[in-house]
Amino acid sequence: MRRPLVMGNWKLNGSKNMVNELIANLRNELSPVYGCDIAIAPPVMYLDLAKHNLSGSCIALGAQNVDLNLSGAYTGDISAAMLKDIGTRYVIIGHSERRTYHKESDEFIAKKFAVLKEKGLIPVLCIGESEAENEAGQTEAVCAKQLDAVLDTLGASAFENAVIAYEPIWAIGTGKSATPAQAQAVHKFIRDHIAKKDADVAKKVIIQYGGSVNASNAAELFTQPDIDGALVGGASLKADAFAVIVKAAAEAKRV
Ligand code: 13P
Repeated sequence: MRRPLVMGNWKLNGSKNMVNELIANLRNELSPVYGCDIAIAPPVMYLDLAKHNLSGSCIALGAQNVDLNLSGAYTGDISAAMLKDIGTRYVIIGHSERRTYHKESDEFIAKKFAVLKEKGLIPVLCIGESEAENEAGQTEAVCAKQLDAVLDTLGASAFENAVIAYEPIWAIGTGKSATPAQAQAVHKFIRDHIAKKDADVAKKVIIQYGGSVNASNAAELFTQPDIDGALVGGASLKADAFAVIVKAAAEAKRV
């Protein structure tokens, strides 16, 4: 049985006050929750403060991005070594917002994946299709291509101790989540695609769903066998809503 992971992606939201307050509230709401891994990914600016505030809690630290180089003359970059140094466990890569606004390619994202593995950090690889691709019936082809960028360069074993987040772009921040059946079909496709290379890795890899997950729709999404938690945007900024989602995952996947 896979242990679900619910992770909050705060995106470009936060302040010192907000970090202090939201983490204090999360600690109250989530102490303790068994049967679900929990993480938050605040903006890089606040990771150190967040780590300090999370001390002794069951909530792990995630980052929203990483650059390729480990040190040197790369003005403005943040390295995997630095993220590791301050206690980050998970790093989101390939988010559609970075693919769109920063023109990140599949190949570039695969390189980030490799750097994270090398440093012992857990990549959370986001994949997913646009609305037009969805309507054109290209969902599986798009997801396969995004996965293959990693599979073909690093092999299936790279997905050991890694996370995939299926985030259909049309569901992100729109309030229009994929239905549980829609998401399950794609999650199964993703797992089967990896299983073609390595059945054991495929069976164990965590596949989160992301896109308008909230306190009302989470439980039903988690009833699906291949949905192993969620990557949560907007609802992760409210401690009570995020806690409902975490508890729904723990409950749905209880063995
Ligand atoms: P929302 O939950 O706000 O739709 O965002 C999802 C997301 O992009 C998480 O990475």
